[in-house]
Amino acid sequence: MISTDFAPNEFQDDAMASLITLFSIWKWKRGNELNLVKKRIESYFLGAKSIFFLSGRSALSILLAELKLPQNSEVVVQGFTCEAVVLPIIHNKLKPVYADIEGETYSFDLSDLERKITDNTRVLILQHTFGMVPKYRDRVLQLAIQKKLFVIEDLAHGCNPAFWQTQNLSDNQVLTLSFGRSKALSSVFGGALITSNKSLTHKLEQAEACLPYPSYSMMFKLLCYKPLAVLIKSTYNYLFLGKVIHKIITILGLMTAEISKQEKSGEYDPYLEKKYPNFLAKLLLIQLNKFEITLSQRTNICSQYAFKFQISNFKLPLSRFPLLVKNKTEILYKLANRNIFLGSWYSQPIAPKELRLDRVGYTMGSCPEAERINKEIINLPTLISIQDAQKITQAIS
Ligand SMILES: Cc1ncc(COP(=O)(O)O)c(C=O)c1O
Repeated sequence: MISTDFAPNEFQDDAMASLITLFSIWKWKRGNELNLVKKRIESYFLGAKSIFFLSGRSALSILLAELKLPQNSEVVVQGFTCEAVVLPIIHNKLKPVYADIEGETYSFDLSDLERKITDNTRVLILQHTFGMVPKYRDRVLQLAIQKKLFVIEDLAHGCNPAFWQTQNLSDNQVLTLSFGRSKALSSVFGGALITSNKSLTHKLEQAEACLPYPSYSMMFKLLCYKPLAVLIKSTYNYLFLGKVIHKIITILGLMTAEISKQEKSGEYDPYLEKKYPNFLAKLLLIQLNKFEITLSQRTNICSQYAFKFQISNFKLPLSRFPLLVKNKTEILYKLANRNIFLGSWYSQPIAPKELRLDRVGYTMGSCPEAERINKEIINLPTLISIQDAQKITQAIS
């Protein structure tokens, strides 16, 4: 099985670390790993502090609450995102306003962004889609200074630490990270805020200190995720064994879903407003220890795709490789029949596709370029072997 969405970052060493951790329950909540992870993450961002949470979406919600904006203030977000970004905005009684994207880095189209900013706008969420630095990043940051807007740079999909070694963060800028299972670094769930603003850091740390730890049953399920995912992936091609195991695990409720039913129905779900427990930091450390190798593997695979599909403008590495195709459904179906499951971020302006767009204030037609791309985009996995990448390129062409 090859998959862009299902456990793309989990391998035997990750599974083994989870299994070992299952037996050291006294280290699940507290321990030294969280400090080590904080130090490592902070070393990627010049002089900034990190505050960890159980998810990127809860981190964003807590940040928006701490900004103490007037009710109905507008937050401009791109119309090519997921509900994890939009529901925290609505939950904080703020108004999401959708700006269109450009088709090169799948981030803000500058002129549409300028049109969507009003006197009521307070925040811009600048998304680094698939881990790409947005084409107009510098201009967006300048615009934010001019209009006195707060900027949240959403690095949930991933980022290249080398880029951030050249950037200083302003006091009106926060970065959000995700360590969710389908992102560039996975601890199954997890997120962090990165800021250089001292008073905001203090407020966020206080907010974090008031959060509870996840329950033991939730922590147990999170620890089961990596071993079960590796088992499913490695047995998938044998007489559907992996498929059967996946079904049984789902029926037994042993895997916590990435998105809850409440979220899919368009309502913020506070179930992830929790502390980031030490055992997740331990799992993240395993991923960070091989981060350099992972980045170079992603770069190699992306270069292979870029060469094959003659795309030259991407700055690599990417957490998933976007490709626009005319026969999207046909390709996804054809490859799924060969146990190759490609991603589809994003199939509608605010994903997932089950989400009713009227629940998040999106009107069809307001981001035409994003809507066009929604119909054509597929995502290829980038943390796979060269042979598997060849299988994918051959199957698509
Ligand atoms: C662009 C973007 N930002 C933020 C998030 C939130 O991340 P998390 O899953 O850790 O809540 C996601 C999740 O899919 C995302 O795609």
